[in-house]
Amino acid sequence: MKLRIGFAGAGFIAGVHRTNLAQDDRVDVTAVYDVDPARATGAASFEEMLDKSDAVYITAPNTLHADLAVRALQAGKHVFCEKPMATTLDDARRILDAAQSSNRVFQVGFNRRFSKVYAKVKQLLAGHPPHTAHIKMNRGELLKPVWTGDEKVTGGFLFETPIHMFDMMRFQFGEVVSLDARLGRVNDFSILVEFSSGMHATFVTSADASWFFPFERLEVFGEYSTIETGEMETLSYRLGLEAETTTEDFRALPMEERWGFREGDRLFVDAILNGQAPAVTAFDGYRSVVLALACYQSAAEKRRIAV
Ligand SMILES: NC(=O)c1ccc[n+]([C@@H]2O[C@H](COP(=O)([O-])OP(=O)(O)OC[C@H]3O[C@@H](n4cnc5c(N)ncnc54)[C@H](O)[C@@H]3O)[C@@H](O)[C@H]2O)c1
Repeated sequence: MKLRIGFAGAGFIAGVHRTNLAQDDRVDVTAVYDVDPARATGAASFEEMLDKSDAVYITAPNTLHADLAVRALQAGKHVFCEKPMATTLDDARRILDAAQSSNRVFQVGFNRRFSKVYAKVKQLLAGHPPHTAHIKMNRGELLKPVWTGDEKVTGGFLFETPIHMFDMMRFQFGEVVSLDARLGRVNDFSILVEFSSGMHATFVTSADASWFFPFERLEVFGEYSTIETGEMETLSYRLGLEAETTTEDFRALPMEERWGFREGDRLFVDAILNGQAPAVTAFDGYRSVVLALACYQSAAEKRRIAV
């Protein structure tokens, strides 16, 4: 029998996951619940969707994730929760406790870990340890769609796209032990991040920088080595003083694959069917929330915060 999958939220990202799941013959999407009845199929309520599912994708807006995810876990479902896992410390802790005390798979939607570009960075860093790094994650505006500028829906700018980079820096460089953030005009952060290895990195993120490409870039520097990414599309690196620069280009791949969504969905189903640990855990989700909140606190108090 196929794994029955339900959705809470039938917007953009649900469509991406459903495109991937439609190509996985181990699963059936059996119910999609949305507060907008025109978007729902096979379920008139969240509870009905739970009843018809073994595993649930939480793909509603940010500030709703925690309640929906905890309810799904308590109903005994496997859960794929889109980012951010939560937007408050209490909610993040609530999900972490519920996930760790259940024997179900709980995975967070940090797709970048599985993108070709960032997977390759991780592979290169294994042989060329980083000494320092600079991370950029900008948005053009917080106007379209309108809810991107509404903190009641997003939980705050850092919980939107920048939260991906809190997870990415832990994925590439290890655990964060402290950070020191300063706020610019409104949603412009300059952050100095310290890792348990002793390494430091800078992270700059601006909410309304214009759509200047690339919005997202990682630059990593080691001993006679430099790695530079351009979105999840290209990667250039020079490994060795006399080496040539190599460039890899993933633009020909479909977006679902290039951005790591397909691999993340496949790993979620693998984890459920094979009894494996999830590829991105509730603890990973929890830590990213801790780091975003620490940035707000650090910027408000203008001091370094241990995390
Ligand atoms: N991993 C990624 O890169 C990525 C990319 C885009 C969005 N996201 C995340 O996915 C979530 C959804 O984003 P989106 O772009 O699909 O938004 P969207 O606005 O396109 O879709 C959200 C849907 O949720 C529905 N909804 C609202 N309240 C609900 C409720 N209580 N129960 C069920 N459905 C409800 C809305 O009617 C809408 O159809 C957000 O948390 C966002 O941060 C992640």
